[in-house]
Amino acid sequence: MGLIQHKREAYWFYRFLSLGYDRWVNPLFWTPEMRAQALDDARLDDPALRVLDVGAGTGFTTEGIVARIPAEHVTMLDQSPHQLARSEAKPALARASRALGDAEDLPFGTDTFDRYVSAGSIEYWPDPQRGIAEAYRVTKPGGTALLIGPVRPANRVARALAQAWMLFPPAGEYERWFRTAGFDDVKTTTLAPDWYRGGRHTPYALAVSGTKPEPGPSPAAQLARPEEPKAGPLRFAARFVLGSAAGAAFVPIAAVLHLRARHGRPR
Ligand SMILES: C[S@@+](CC[C@H](N)C(=O)[O-])C[C@H]1O[C@@H](n2cnc3c(N)ncnc32)[C@H](O)[C@@H]1O
Repeated sequence: MGLIQHKREAYWFYRFLSLGYDRWVNPLFWTPEMRAQALDDARLDDPALRVLDVGAGTGFTTEGIVARIPAEHVTMLDQSPHQLARSEAKPALARASRALGDAEDLPFGTDTFDRYVSAGSIEYWPDPQRGIAEAYRVTKPGGTALLIGPVRPANRVARALAQAWMLFPPAGEYERWFRTAGFDDVKTTTLAPDWYRGGRHTPYALAVSGTKPEPGPSPAAQLARPEEPKAGPLRFAARFVLGSAAGAAFVPIAAVLHLRARHGRPR
């Protein structure tokens, strides 16, 4: 498991990252073009739909959702009050509802939302199958869930840093988690920012979507692992510092690649 792939570590990671998140993270790693491409798979095709955005953070993906669905039909959930607080400054999101909570234990009833969206949050979930079972549970029958997450890098150095930081699963895991959760019509779309040069063989990120065939909880609900005990202070501090350092290393690497892609330097 990644060092920040724990709820308390992720909470503190975003306590600090929220300060520069909109400025330094999304412009490099999760662009408006990627967001638009991914959201096409969420079937946001009727303004009456009720949509849940899990791990909504500062609301970057939610802004893409409210371009298609009225904000008053959209609920943003995150475990970080600091991230959600940043979303309050965005006028387009003023009428969206906000909830503090855990993606792996959603504070909503079964069969509640027409659409479930989660972008860039699964990386921090200690039990991804449990989170996807929760996506299934809160989605109405016939509704669609869409989840966006990164893929294990092919490059050895990038892979070591990525896996020290958080969850970067092999591409096939996402589809397996969705099918195990009970979703039908599982579809995968590959996504990448313009600076990414991993090629067709190793996607940068995936958008995985599926349809809930029947009402009720996920057949995978009983596969959930028991909650891990909280780490002691030393282990917590070590995970936090080393995991944050591994994550921070990606910002200059991506910034250089982004500038090179933009200014057309030969690679
Ligand atoms: C990379 S940000 C993505 C934010 C947003 N979806 C976007 O598109 O910019 C990941 C978010 O997931 C949230 N998160 C991490 N673990 C979570 C959990 N177990 N439950 C709810 N939110 C979680 C973090 O607090 C953070 O705001």
